[in-house]
Amino acid sequence: MSVIKLLSDIYSVGVVDWNVRNFHGHTYTTKRGSSYNAYLIIDEKVALIDTVYGPFSAELIENIQQVVPLNKIDYIVANHVETDHSGALPEIMKLAKGAKIFGTGKCREGLQRYYYGNWDFQVVKSGDTLKLGKRSLTFLEAPMIHWPDSMFTYCPEEALLMPNDAFGQHLASNERFADEVDQCVLWDEAAKYYGNILWPLGQVILRKIEEVKKSNLSIKMIAPSHGVIWRQNPMQIVDKYASWAKNETLPKVVLAYETMWGATEKMARKIVEGIEKEGMSVKLFDITASDRTEVIKEMLDAKGFIFGSSTHDNGMLTTIAGFLDFIKGLKPKNRSAAVFGSYGWAGGAVRQIEGIIKETGLDLTQEGLQVKYMPDKNDLAACIEFGRSFAAKLK
Ligand code: FEO
Repeated sequence: MSVIKLLSDIYSVGVVDWNVRNFHGHTYTTKRGSSYNAYLIIDEKVALIDTVYGPFSAELIENIQQVVPLNKIDYIVANHVETDHSGALPEIMKLAKGAKIFGTGKCREGLQRYYYGNWDFQVVKSGDTLKLGKRSLTFLEAPMIHWPDSMFTYCPEEALLMPNDAFGQHLASNERFADEVDQCVLWDEAAKYYGNILWPLGQVILRKIEEVKKSNLSIKMIAPSHGVIWRQNPMQIVDKYASWAKNETLPKVVLAYETMWGATEKMARKIVEGIEKEGMSVKLFDITASDRTEVIKEMLDAKGFIFGSSTHDNGMLTTIAGFLDFIKGLKPKNRSAAVFGSYGWAGGAVRQIEGIIKETGLDLTQEGLQVKYMPDKNDLAACIEFGRSFAAKLK
């Protein structure tokens, strides 16, 4: 990524990762790539805000050198320990020898455990400020957005918020601003990012948004650590986060299933017909053929979830089991759910999924529907009614 001047003497010096297709191990598919953003502020003191993923260290160094020699960096702000933002720190510290690092106490602990560097580190707390010259930086601890060490950095003179992971998107592009990219793609990626990474942290996010709004911070630009920068109406993404965090949903059902010999699939298609009869939006996913990251994005604004599985060894099939385990970790709130599936003799999948639903805290609105072997005409009619009654209860 080329160096971009964001504001007078403030530069975006991070990198675009065009080819990353799996993030956080294999928990998140990044079909549009990503970026690791870092920001450089030139004042009487020179400050670098965050670094990039380790394999891109050389590119970050090259970018910084286009603006200032590395040995001129006085301060490095480490908003977050995770390696996609701190990975280049060891290489930067070899060249910016006199630089002091600023971060939370948890950040110091995390960086020590990752890199074992003997670095000058100053622990900061919410409200602490760092004078750069004409400008200053104010720190705002943001634990669990996304890790315990996370914090936001704010430059009041420029009304610039650098919130690291918050308000980001996994989106590789040469455009650097949200208003320059396709808006459907932008919001698709923002929702996917929230749904797959931040969904379980809704209450923490809401409290932080309220805190920021109460403090009346002027915010003209939000520069996250992934994806594009919000400069036109930056509060639009903050408001969207508040809506997601409040679990605001649409009259929409997501149905995800796994089938062994096609009976559960037949049931699924008839359940969809029933939902349609109530005039409700529905998305159907064979989970073995679907991108889980995309399914979760669809679930983010859905009021109802229906899960289906054939029974195998007295339980559910394995792909839907992994999917439900991921859903359990996302801790979705204020959603209704129902379960269906086919079986041969003893059954078990429906009971097992219902147990997970209860543990997850979803509202199980109706008794599970089971069909022995292949559904007949009456069974298929029951599936239509199952979908219709589920949708009706969501209204
Ligand atoms: Fe982009 Fe939590 O790291």
